[in-house]
Amino acid sequence: MKKYYITTPIYYINDVPHIGHAYTTIAADVLARYYRAKGHEVFFLTGTDEHGAKIEKAAKKVGKSPEQFVENLIPVFKKVWKELNISYSEYFRTSNPEHKKIVSDLVSKLVAKGLVEKKKYEGLYCIECERFLKESELVNSLCPDHKISPVKQSEENYFFKLSGFADKILEKINSGEFEIGPEARKNEIVGKIKNGLEDISISRVGVEWGIQFPNDPTQTIYVWVDALLNYYTATKIFKKEEFWPADLHLIGKDILWFHAVIWPAILLALDLPLPKKVFAHGFFTIDGQKMSKSIGNVIDPIKMTEKFGADAVRYAILREFPFGSDGDISEEKIEKRYEKDLANELGNLLQRTISMINKYETKVERNLGYFEENEKNDEAFALETVELLFEAYLPNLKFDYILQEIWKQIRDCNVFIDEKKPWQLEKEKNHTELTRVLNVIYWELFKIADLLLPFMPETSEKIQSQLKSLKPEPLFPRLENK
Ligand code: MSP
Repeated sequence: MKKYYITTPIYYINDVPHIGHAYTTIAADVLARYYRAKGHEVFFLTGTDEHGAKIEKAAKKVGKSPEQFVENLIPVFKKVWKELNISYSEYFRTSNPEHKKIVSDLVSKLVAKGLVEKKKYEGLYCIECERFLKESELVNSLCPDHKISPVKQSEENYFFKLSGFADKILEKINSGEFEIGPEARKNEIVGKIKNGLEDISISRVGVEWGIQFPNDPTQTIYVWVDALLNYYTATKIFKKEEFWPADLHLIGKDILWFHAVIWPAILLALDLPLPKKVFAHGFFTIDGQKMSKSIGNVIDPIKMTEKFGADAVRYAILREFPFGSDGDISEEKIEKRYEKDLANELGNLLQRTISMINKYETKVERNLGYFEENEKNDEAFALETVELLFEAYLPNLKFDYILQEIWKQIRDCNVFIDEKKPWQLEKEKNHTELTRVLNVIYWELFKIADLLLPFMPETSEKIQSQLKSLKPEPLFPRLENK
């Protein structure tokens, strides 16, 4: 059986998850469900990044120990993923003792290989990014993402000799062994690597909440090294070793450098195979500004699922704009999608089809031959098979295209009904044509349900069970009635 290993970033547990985190996780879930439906054995990993100064600070602010603070938030993360119907295989936590032990051993290995050296460093640290920023990256002296002043820090740290890995990483990228998407972002990364890489600090002084640096109790391992290694340590902890290397790390564009440069360098240094692909999507913005917990302009995914249901949220956020680009999102936009695409187009199609089949007492058995005829039927709509549609668009993760294609078919079905006018056929007592027309739509709806499965698992199931029982119920009830 083919294997597929997909990951989301492990999210900082300094606050509750927002819809930006849900975006990556939903996209990963769609892929996990698609590959499962295709018969692959899927390992789908998500989790939380629990160490470091940022979490330490958040815990302190509310007078809690980091352990207690983190523990309180775990159920919140799990609840959001449950509400959104996220089918992760395992939930990863960097506070896992086995992870800590493996990370410590791997860092010792880097030291033993002579790839680490201690030196003094002075730089501007953004605690929200958990990284040093260059002067040239600042906008009006502030971190461009978090709009806060980075703090000058001068420490003696352990440095990983990243500079020696530029050519090796480029070689892996150029050979296609290590893919980065989308293309434009890959080119940016390649350009930056060609300009040369600097060694990076992989330890921190004065951060207690983390994994101790091997043989030096005064330093902790840099939280990003701890976090990136999760993708690999998880395969050991959860006994999924045969899944390494990962097929896809799905991330936001903010953390591409870590995943496309630092992560492969660490793996190369450890003589481990590189993940096959890293794909960075764009950001949800609110009025053009990045949504983030630190800025405070966040949309709560639980509130959205309570109002619209998981499937509507899953649909709306993947449909609204191309996966690689930035795009604005709002409750109003989700509501519009709910009413137009879901209630009016899909829900209505199913309901009127089943109602007419009941009203006109139409036979819809598969052995009537209409199912097969439907396959060849080009009169209404040539529906591609699930696999063709996905294979065409998935390499570039064009979720919005796939959904647009599915909706074209839904609209075609509605147009077909309007043109063929089954009510007229009934009046004319043209029962042969009436049976044919309703069967065409009936069997088409099963295929639409298959196509929707990875995106909207509950809806897909509801469509199939309503078709089988011929008991119509609104798929997406009017919002005021909810
Ligand atoms: N802990 C690190 C990741 C370590 S992975 C080894 C981290 N965590 S985070 O909580 O800040 O999550 C960042 C990720 O959340 C982004 O890469 C992206 O996947 C998602 N998003 C956060 N804000 C987002 C938007 N406004 N829009 C879309 N995705 C967003 O970085």
